[in-house]
Amino acid sequence: MKPQNSLNFSGGPGALPESVLLQVQQDILEVPEVGLSLLGISHRSDWFAAVIKETEDNIRSLLGLGADYHVLLLQGGATQQFSMVPMTLLRGKKHPAQYLHTGYWSGKALPQARLEGPIDVIWSGEASGFRHLPDDSELALSPDAPYLHYVSNETVEGLQFNRVLGRDDVPRICDMSSDFLSRPCEAERFALIYAHAQKNIGPAGVTVVVVKDDLLKDAPTNLPAFLDYRQQIQAHSNLNTPPVFAIYVTLLVTRWLKHDVGGLAQMDQINQAKAALLYQTIDQSGGFYVGHAATPNRSLMNVAFTLRDPELEKRFLAQAQAAGFYGLAGHRALGGIRASIYNALSVSAVQTLTAFMQDFQHRTSH
Ligand SMILES: Cc1ncc(COP(=O)(O)O)c(C=O)c1O
Repeated sequence: MKPQNSLNFSGGPGALPESVLLQVQQDILEVPEVGLSLLGISHRSDWFAAVIKETEDNIRSLLGLGADYHVLLLQGGATQQFSMVPMTLLRGKKHPAQYLHTGYWSGKALPQARLEGPIDVIWSGEASGFRHLPDDSELALSPDAPYLHYVSNETVEGLQFNRVLGRDDVPRICDMSSDFLSRPCEAERFALIYAHAQKNIGPAGVTVVVVKDDLLKDAPTNLPAFLDYRQQIQAHSNLNTPPVFAIYVTLLVTRWLKHDVGGLAQMDQINQAKAALLYQTIDQSGGFYVGHAATPNRSLMNVAFTLRDPELEKRFLAQAQAAGFYGLAGHRALGGIRASIYNALSVSAVQTLTAFMQDFQHRTSH
């Protein structure tokens, strides 16, 4: 049985493993241990408590996290974290938090943080069109900052850091929405990581937050319960009705990562192989396809590129869609083409796309 006819190269929600989709299909009719549809099981049931616990345990073991970290499954998307982080760590602070502005999504976090306290944007790639990322020598890191915030993978521009930034004595906060669990990430060097599920680990509706215990020791006590990490921790991510479906599918993807893929190092190898296929196709096209990101900063998740002119890009996209490639149009903020190649998209899907790209170039140039 083939559940999908198009290959999902969209910026998100991304593809999910076929084995997970088949399992979910059965569970929507009936989860055998419960005798009910997945969509009607109470969030207060023992079954769901076990789902939350196993999801947390799997994320903990995939990332190698110690007992001093909490794993939360929250709502509100990554966007809510743009506010929850500064509400918790910046209110009433004298010293500014340090932020990097490396692309569209890190830019979206800035105005939300400014509502809560002082911030210092220590590096911006805006003037140069967000085509590259900074070296360490370009970052004036302060020991007094309440925290440093950055985005590990800029989804729109296809820029990805290959190292952990910042000082060990200042809490690191990272938006990993578009590369979470796609490779090992030295998670214990971060005080807080957030990532929505819908790129690499599940459907939309749930956002994973990994937070170190001592980051929260001076958090304000007058936050709304829903936006208070400590109350969410106490409630085991079950403060109000959580998205049971999204969390359950995320559990199945973490099982797939652990047992079928074999862990994050193996996932990384697969992701590297997929990205290499696309970048080679771009680099060997003699300038027909032009990559957006500077070569050392190229993302393994989002491959953004352009063609000679918008007319040709339109033709490329129309033919790609007709050939069964879904979601290749670049983000509305950037235009061009973007092939997003998250965890569950197979190497063979990428091979099919690179063959199409070569064929399109051949047909267009002759
Ligand atoms: C890196 C990054 N951060 C934040 C967001 C916003 O996420 P959400 O729509 O879950 O609020 C996105 C969306 O694609 C993203 O790619």
